[in-house]
Amino acid sequence: MKKVALYLQDKARRTEQAMEQCIAEWGTEPARLIEAIRYSLFAPAKRLRPALALGAAEIVCGDDTPALPAACALEMIHTYSLIHDDLPAMDNDDLRRGRPTSHKVFGEATAMLAGDTLLTMAFDAAAQSGDIRIIRELAQAAGVGGMAGGQFYDIEAEKRMVTLEELRRIHAFKTGALIRASVRCGAMLAGADAVALEALTRYGEQVGLAFQIADDILNVTGTQEATGKPVGSDASREKSTYPGLLGLERARELAEEAVAAATTALERFGEEADMFRLLARFIVERDR
Ligand code: IPE
Ligand code: IPE
Ligand code: MG
Ligand code: MG
Repeated sequence: MKKVALYLQDKARRTEQAMEQCIAEWGTEPARLIEAIRYSLFAPAKRLRPALALGAAEIVCGDDTPALPAACALEMIHTYSLIHDDLPAMDNDDLRRGRPTSHKVFGEATAMLAGDTLLTMAFDAAAQSGDIRIIRELAQAAGVGGMAGGQFYDIEAEKRMVTLEELRRIHAFKTGALIRASVRCGAMLAGADAVALEALTRYGEQVGLAFQIADDILNVTGTQEATGKPVGSDASREKSTYPGLLGLERARELAEEAVAAATTALERFGEEADMFRLLARFIVERDR
């Protein structure tokens, strides 16, 4: 897993540099709002979605540079979703990325506006790719058929039993869609043909599923020190999760099945996709 850690570090560094450039273009006012945005955006994080976008571009054309605008946009949308997810009206969590949550430090109004700003400016960053397909891809993954719709289903499913089919839909929408879009944006910006795009899309769907199952499992078995966020909170809020519905063992099996399917989706690629094979494994073995 050392190789994956170094790879993620490198992609995180490139993304953070590019995000610094985006924010520099915004100007310096309102200073407190920008401070709140920086507080969440530059907190220690895995930068998994940027890594998937940059990695997909590398697989397709051998260079990750074309995917940088999408990498920034994805991390901004993701960070906004976390700030809003933690609000008292939603999951009401106090810790995120190892820091007190945005609303705890800056107040609810500023936290909401930090999220709103990140979502909006993500599209400014994405537009720098010059590719209108990326704008649509991100809008669809973050909107009603993606993250925001999934967050609605997630809240609506609290305190009641859901079927496995419903749980799959919650996960595919709230987390899967943006992870799938990460891979697709990188591939599209690198000029992927239809066959390569299709294969990478399948990969993105499966790692997205594996990722959220692993997140559910970490809420049961993980530590606050490693994950940088509260553990045990899903059970106390009576959230619908894989371990909650199926038990830990079955949840782990399903995560493994998703990793296997993700690996199968990469069959048509050679060693240029080796890092994506390792990344799929990292997603279920991670402790943070
Ligand atoms: C956490 O995402 C929220 C989910 C969508 C499950 P990450 O685990 O990618 O969080 P960061 O970006 O590393 O903080
Ligand atoms: C987060 O889902 C998904 C988002 C769209 C933000 P969770 O609520 O399960 O994620 P954590 O555990 O708070 O990171
Ligand atoms: Mg939530
Ligand atoms: Mg949450």
